[in-house]
Amino acid sequence: MVLNKIRQAKKKRNLITYSNPDSIISEQFRTIRTNIKFLTDNRNSHNFLLTSPNKQEGTSTTVANLAVSMAFLRDKILLIDANLRSPYQHTIFKTANEIGLNNIIAGQTTFNQAVFKTGIGNLDVLTSGSSKMNPSEVISDDKMIELLKEVRGTYDIVLVDSPSVLQSTETRVLAHHCDGVVLIVNKGKTDLQKAAEAKSILDLAHANIVGAILNDKR
Ligand SMILES: Nc1ncnc2c1ncn2[C@@H]1O[C@H](COP(=O)(O)OP(=O)(O)OP(=O)(O)O)[C@@H](O)[C@H]1O
Ligand SMILES: [Mg+2]
Repeated sequence: MVLNKIRQAKKKRNLITYSNPDSIISEQFRTIRTNIKFLTDNRNSHNFLLTSPNKQEGTSTTVANLAVSMAFLRDKILLIDANLRSPYQHTIFKTANEIGLNNIIAGQTTFNQAVFKTGIGNLDVLTSGSSKMNPSEVISDDKMIELLKEVRGTYDIVLVDSPSVLQSTETRVLAHHCDGVVLIVNKGKTDLQKAAEAKSILDLAHANIVGAILNDKR
């Protein structure tokens, strides 16, 4: 699936599916949404990790738009910003980031206290929060797996925004605990060899790669 260049959304940063649901790109997100919905039918697929081979290839923008598109179907959706190195969902959804995933793992808050209700359908966002701990230690903590289990009962679909595969170790850890992985590659930017390298790393982590999205950012 190819995504066209997104024009700046007026209210929420780059949330074209929210600001312009009739656009071609919103239609493209609906197609991706449908493909993912197929995976959730009759199978135990529930949480999906989205990542890319390298940094700045459009993962966060794609996850946010996909989450909004899914929320329009009245499903209960949770978006977790697990990119603790370079968190971005609080910027996209224009919300505070004092507490979030980091603080839950550190035992400083609960999920219910930390989660942000966007008001866009039933879309909740768990921002990264703040911590002095190393991101890979936070993600490798048993509490992270517990959290993924806990939200399984509450949400129809959970989308996990993750750091790039080649510049982090935590994405492979997380990918192992998610039902499906979607790889975002950037048209004209992602090197084919790097994409293959990222796929091998995810395969080694026994990740279930369910598809790829070609982001045309330029
Ligand atoms: N299709 C697109 N059209 C226009 N701008 C885009 C598109 N995709 C991403 N961008 C812009 O490119 C930049 C990087 O995108 P984004 O933050 O989504 O990438 P990322 O892969 O999550 O980066 P990081 O490695 O920092 O997590 C952002 O400024 C975003 O607004
Ligand atoms: Mg990102």
